Amino acid sequence: MVEMGTAQADIGVIGGSGFYSFLEDVTEVTVKTPYGSPSDSLFIGELAGRKVAFLPRHGRGHHLPPHRINYRANLWALRSIGVRQVLGPCAVGGLRPEYGPGTLLVPDQLVDRTKNRTQTFFDGEPLPDGSVPDVVHTTFADPYCPAGRAVALAVARGHGWDPVDGGTMVVIEGPRFSTRAESRWHAAQGWSVVGMTGHPEAVLARELGLCYTSMSLVTDLDAGAETGDGVSHDEVMRVFGENVGRLREVLFAAVCALPETAERACLCAT
Ligand code: ADE
Repeated sequence: MVEMGTAQADIGVIGGSGFYSFLEDVTEVTVKTPYGSPSDSLFIGELAGRKVAFLPRHGRGHHLPPHRINYRANLWALRSIGVRQVLGPCAVGGLRPEYGPGTLLVPDQLVDRTKNRTQTFFDGEPLPDGSVPDVVHTTFADPYCPAGRAVALAVARGHGWDPVDGGTMVVIEGPRFSTRAESRWHAAQGWSVVGMTGHPEAVLARELGLCYTSMSLVTDLDAGAETGDGVSHDEVMRVFGENVGRLREVLFAAVCALPETAERACLCAT
C-alpha cells in the first residue's frame, strides 16, 4: 500500500472489488481528503494504457450502507489523483415489468428522493484552499455525461447486451427498500429504476467538473412491479454476483473507449 503522492489515474470506477480483483499489478493507494475518508483505498491499475482508479463504494467487505457513504470524500479523492471521468456501475430495482433482473440501463435522468445526505461541496463554508466561493447553483438539467453514456451503450451492445438507452433513476434514502405503495408511485411517475447510491454521486461529480456515467444493473423487480414478497438484500447480491462478470467486461471496454481527458467534447467540466 502506498500513500497518495505520485499516484495518478484519469478514469475512476466507483464499484465493488468484483471489478478490479482480476487485474494484475493493482496498486492500493490511501487518500486523505478535506472531507474525511473515502469508502476505502483507491485501487489503481492499467487497462489498455488507461490508468484507472477503482473505489469500492461500500468499502471492502461491503460494510457501508448507502446513507453512510462519504460521497464527497469519494469524489474528491478521485479528482485529487487526476480522475476526470467516472463510471458508476450500480445495482438498481426495475420499476417496469420489462426491466427484469439482468437488464442493463444507462439512465439519462435522475430524481432525488434522498433525505439526509450532504449533496454539495459549496455549502457556504470555506473551500479547502481557504477561499469562500460565491453561492453556487450547479447546472444539472442533464445529470449524466452524454459522451460517457454513448460509450457505455455502444460497448454494451458490442458485448451482446441489449441495454436500455435512457430512463430515470429515482434514488431513495434507504437502507430499507421501498414499500409497495412507494414503488407503485415511483412507477406511476414514469420513472424507470430505483437505487440508493446514484445521488449525490452524480451531482458531486458535476460540481467537480467530472464526467459521470451510471451503468445500472437491474437486480430485481421492485416491490410494486412484482407480486412476490418484496425485494431482499440477498436477492440483490445474488443477481449482482451472477452478472458481475459480464458487467466487468463491458466496464473495461468502456474504460478503453472513453475519450482522452484532453479531448472531452462534453460540457461536464464547464
Ligand atoms: N438496489 C437494487 N435493487 C434495489 C431496489 N429494489 N430498491 C432500491 N435499491 C436497489
